[in-house]
Amino acid sequence: MNDDITLLAIESSCDETSAAIIKNGKILNNIVASQIIHEQYGGVVPELASRAHQQDIVRVVQEALTDAGVQKADLAAVAFTRGPGLLGSLLVGTSFAKALALGLNIPLIEVNHMQAHVLAHFIDEPKPAFPFICLTVSGGHTQLVLVRGPLDMEVVGETADDAVGEAFDKAAKMLGLGYPGGPQIDRLAAEGNPEAFAFPLSEMPDLKFSFSGIKTALLYFIQEKGEDFVRENIRDICASYQHALIRMLLNKLRKAAKKYRVSEIAIAGGVSANRGLRKALELEAEKQRWNIYIPDFQYCTDNAGMIAMAAHYQYLNGNFVDQGISPLPRMKI
Ligand code: KG4
Ligand code: ZN
Repeated sequence: MNDDITLLAIESSCDETSAAIIKNGKILNNIVASQIIHEQYGGVVPELASRAHQQDIVRVVQEALTDAGVQKADLAAVAFTRGPGLLGSLLVGTSFAKALALGLNIPLIEVNHMQAHVLAHFIDEPKPAFPFICLTVSGGHTQLVLVRGPLDMEVVGETADDAVGEAFDKAAKMLGLGYPGGPQIDRLAAEGNPEAFAFPLSEMPDLKFSFSGIKTALLYFIQEKGEDFVRENIRDICASYQHALIRMLLNKLRKAAKKYRVSEIAIAGGVSANRGLRKALELEAEKQRWNIYIPDFQYCTDNAGMIAMAAHYQYLNGNFVDQGISPLPRMKI
């Protein structure tokens, strides 16, 4: 036994099987196995996702341990994503973590996936100062989170319907661009004119988002203009559509920063990999005198590194769970 705090973290909430080792608060690795099976269906198929997790998890965990030079006996605890996410996917990581912790007779730590996206900011320098606002934008969520401490967070704004990642993915599907659509739209948008077409911005009260209207507007636009026009103008369409999504995000972010008088601003989640959003945030930060924080790309999309970071704080706080625990697909922050 030694005094090091070495933790194994497992992430399996959606279509990425991932394991990471964290030692005394420092991430040693972040192994991610992405499931490519979903591409041919144009979206994540839950049953195929859980099956792929089942097939990959032992190899991924073994790779994390071997790569870090860590023995199972060195582990102080095992952490897993309890939710939110797909039930079948969460069950694989949860069951695996429970069995491993039971076998090694060490504590078990539950992690909230959305809290972990925010805590990805504590993996590398510079770290945001408290309190800060984090805009978490992923395939399943669009949240404005007021962060007062590592484990003290409040969701102050959310979407009333689709997540912004869905708005990217569904648009890409309508435009015939494949899955996941965010990176495709990002790539084409970089070569297009964002002012070419005007897509409607939703008018939701306070800090609420809505992305279903713009998605419908794009559908009508495609139907009205026809396939040939869409093909010839695909770059401008992507740039204009992405521009509208980014404006909606930044409008609410500005509002939240003002309301809570915060100038430390972070973005997290898969959509924070978007180059247009990163650029727009940098420009806005200059105007508003914000200090902005954007995680390293590998910690934007789903990964166990962020779960490990959250687990470290839970460990320091003595937050452990018992073997009766089960996943919470709709877990809240
Ligand atoms: O956080 P994440 O990996 O998984 C969830 O928890 O949902 O986010 C996945 C989402 C997908 O909707 C994907 O299209 C989007 O992030 N995404 C992007 C980019 N890279 C990933 N959206 C826009 N631009 C990107 N470069
Ligand atoms: Zn996520």
